Amino acid sequence: HGTSRINDAGHLEIGGCDVTELKAEYGTPLYILDEQLVRQRCREYMDAFKASGLGFQVAYASKAFSVMAMVRLADEEGLSLDVVSDGELYTALQAGFPAERIHFHGNNKTSEEIEMAIDAKIGCFVVDNLVELNLLQSIAARKEVNVNILLRVTPGVEAHTHEYTATGQTDSKFGFDIGNGSAYEAVKAAVSKKNITLLGVHSHIGSQIFETDGFQLAVERVATFARSVKEGLEVDFRVVNLGGGFGIRYVEGDTPLHVSEYVAAITDAVKTHFAGIYSALPEIWVEPGRSIVGDAGTTLYTVGSNKDIPGVRKYVAVDGGMTDNPRPALYQSKYEALLANRANEDATETVSIAGKCCESGDMLIWDVELPKAESGDLLAVACTGAYNYSMASNYNRLRRPALVFVQNGQSDLVVRRESYTDLIANDIVPERIAKQTV
Ligand code: LLP
Repeated sequence: HGTSRINDAGHLEIGGCDVTELKAEYGTPLYILDEQLVRQRCREYMDAFKASGLGFQVAYASKAFSVMAMVRLADEEGLSLDVVSDGELYTALQAGFPAERIHFHGNNKTSEEIEMAIDAKIGCFVVDNLVELNLLQSIAARKEVNVNILLRVTPGVEAHTHEYTATGQTDSKFGFDIGNGSAYEAVKAAVSKKNITLLGVHSHIGSQIFETDGFQLAVERVATFARSVKEGLEVDFRVVNLGGGFGIRYVEGDTPLHVSEYVAAITDAVKTHFAGIYSALPEIWVEPGRSIVGDAGTTLYTVGSNKDIPGVRKYVAVDGGMTDNPRPALYQSKYEALLANRANEDATETVSIAGKCCESGDMLIWDVELPKAESGDLLAVACTGAYNYSMASNYNRLRRPALVFVQNGQSDLVVRRESYTDLIANDIVPERIAKQTV
């Protein structure tokens, strides 16, 4: 998919770059991002919203993959940006992302984070709870500024991958419950506060969702809530943010919809359920993360050792693992892979791909069909653009991999491989320990 293909040499090529050459230049493990595919996904969202005729913002959820080059790309494509921490905000500001299009999320923003975001003049805070609302108001009052907010509400739609269940939101750490009246009280509190402008509400129902009905139900419930707020409090929501969660295809059997289908389902539901509440329909914001970058990412590894347990299983080990992709260990996530330097050869055996960390749970793929993998072969794991680099760790003191953008036969380093000195950069040996000798 994207710009990936197998070239005449039988090598995987992404963005016109032969992965054997990428290995020679940057080493492995290596994250490779198909820049053209990321831009295409951004445009699919923008175009689908333009077609709806509604006011909108598409905020890239930078938690999926936050580095300065990606933030710049999102800006170039006209997207807004969702950040959830001072670190993501710092990255965005350093990359020159326009502050007015930054939205700040999180269920426990610190006063330092709030100050930093206010000073940067970000566009909007998504307020999660009353402690935050009060903190935000007091900081804004002290600074004598006004801040725009959305209130995060839980519409009682909890979406899972293949089904959604209307749970009534008894058990979520996020947001104000619509069902038990706490969201209504939060609106009342927000509009009573000086220094705070309530733009509207936010709802996020889950991640890696393949169907539209969960989103449609969320729109319906938010609209019902909006109507009661309009009638009871005479408050209008100018903005309704419906979060992210649009699914992608990791493996055969995953059945995501096209971006335009998700967007059309949402905007149609808005037109239906918000009709007549206000003189104009609210602006619709969304926050896709995974579906912008996920399938554009590939991780390239070098095969090392293997262990054949006759009649049981053959393990093939690569030079990365749970440190660069913790998702299989955390969520039992499934991935597809191919031997990238012999991509035109037929599969001859079923193997399981092990990482190099010192624990049995460090497995990337259980049971994948491959040609016989030898030490020195290259293994490419697909769909690693989202929540891989951003969730990577230095466990076992492995250095985080380099990351390149590829397009039109050109590769550009956007994250250099960590060095040994990076690993110990924050280490301090106290004097009293340093001077002890045996
Ligand atoms: N907006 C909010 C409020 C969110 O909590 C999230 C994701 C998003 C947007 C973006 O969702 P996306 O479009 O990427 O599905 N680490 C997990 C995913 C955690 C998602 C957390 N929130 C994983 O690797 O699957």
